[in-house]
Amino acid sequence: MIWKRKSQASIETNGAAETEIPVADTQSSVTLVEAFPSTPFYERPANEGELWRDPTAREPGPMLPRFIASAADDIESASADRLSRRRLALRDALGASQPVVMREAFAGRHDPMGRLITAIEEQRVHVVIYGERGIGKTSLAHVFAETAREARYHVIYASCGTAANFSDMFRSILARIPRIFHTSVLPNSAEAEAGDNFDIMLPNGEYGARELADVLSGVVGTRVLVILDEYDRVVDVNFRRDVAELIKNLSDRAARVQLIITGVALNLDELIGYAPSIRRNITGLPMTPMTKAEMRELLRMGERAADIVFGDDAVETIGQMAGGSPYLVRLLGHQAGLITLDARRDRVNEADARKAVELVIREWQASLPRRVQSNLSREEAKTHWQLLVAAARAGSSADGWFTVDDVYAEMGGALSALAIERDLKLFVNTVDLLERREGPGDPHFRFGYPGVASLLMMSAAMARLVA
Ligand SMILES: Nc1ncnc2c1ncn2[C@@H]1O[C@H](COP(=O)(O)OP(=O)(O)O)[C@@H](O)[C@H]1O
Ligand SMILES: [Mg+2]
Repeated sequence: MIWKRKSQASIETNGAAETEIPVADTQSSVTLVEAFPSTPFYERPANEGELWRDPTAREPGPMLPRFIASAADDIESASADRLSRRRLALRDALGASQPVVMREAFAGRHDPMGRLITAIEEQRVHVVIYGERGIGKTSLAHVFAETAREARYHVIYASCGTAANFSDMFRSILARIPRIFHTSVLPNSAEAEAGDNFDIMLPNGEYGARELADVLSGVVGTRVLVILDEYDRVVDVNFRRDVAELIKNLSDRAARVQLIITGVALNLDELIGYAPSIRRNITGLPMTPMTKAEMRELLRMGERAADIVFGDDAVETIGQMAGGSPYLVRLLGHQAGLITLDARRDRVNEADARKAVELVIREWQASLPRRVQSNLSREEAKTHWQLLVAAARAGSSADGWFTVDDVYAEMGGALSALAIERDLKLFVNTVDLLERREGPGDPHFRFGYPGVASLLMMSAAMARLVA
């Protein structure tokens, strides 16, 4: 069965979830639910256009690319090309450009899901989900939302942008809560019939956490869960202060509203700031790398969809290179699967997996700006390769920033802290690969161009594998 991907609106509610419908896995429906661009570094084999080529047509040069599948509901001709269908099915199952929104496409993660449910249902606290990019926070939030809706929670998902403003954000969230859930509104009253939402009870213009909590403490007949995804992107410090204040107000009044905040961070404080007054009302949920078994389960979805098998050695290679990141498991599994299908085989072997890694590394490298590419190939970069890889690892655990101590820990004492600091500065000043943030406490560094860190780590892992 192939499931339709839902388009990603920034805010969605219970209603939106109902539009997620399974579609039959005929080729035409698969084609119609195209949700993300085809992977750029995949080259279509020359013979694949044959299906749609008019045999009498002549082209002056080599044949121009064609669509893989027909958009007509023509099951007969669609099934004629089983290979293209398997490719599309594989992309649907392992494509890495979208978060998972449904349980059917969600691998593993029983433990964080269980802890999230317990925190919401039994402890009645607010939850902060944190971890590195691509680790699966948004996916967990979506699948959790589905589960909570089944238990009649009213769930609102909102993605934060850099420009998030407290009043605007929560006005649009409250516009998704029907007013019939407010204690002041009687069933069958004029207000209930009007179909209004909570937002009309808010003051006009800007308002604060207290006024918002006043309105939200009136929730009855359901419990409201507000998911604030990508919280780390919010730059306005007032927004974070107001949200902390809101948590305090909601908790003090025992309101039937709980927040679930997710973001890229190393720890709780980094995301919500140091706020001792709300500590006992919050639970932190760190998203950790997937286990081997979970990564295997993820690859199995590709196996089922495209009717292929990942051999144990291929699974091992992909698992090692991905290091528990579901994003990388999908990226590598997808590419390795395509390589296997193109070779007209059903079993993904280790060589396929390695080729997939090479493809991904090459593609990442090519996507870097020229300037960054040439800096990476400078002599200084080669002599300090170990340090750069350690720095990449140090930054990967959270938002990219790392300290001298972090790199020292990664290098296991191979270099003194003093030497590390000196070398890091070299890459800030002479070779423009790192940037430096001054402020209270230790100086922080990070790679000036985000793709560089992943590239370094993957190349290093690949080198270890080949050695
Ligand atoms: N449990 C899972 N099962 C299958 N795929 C997952 C899972 N968690 C994450 N993914 C995939 O990994 C990628 C990154 O996930 P996402 O939820 O966007 O991470 P984050 O929000 O932490 O950056 C997406 O392509 C998503 O489909
Ligand atoms: Mg996310």
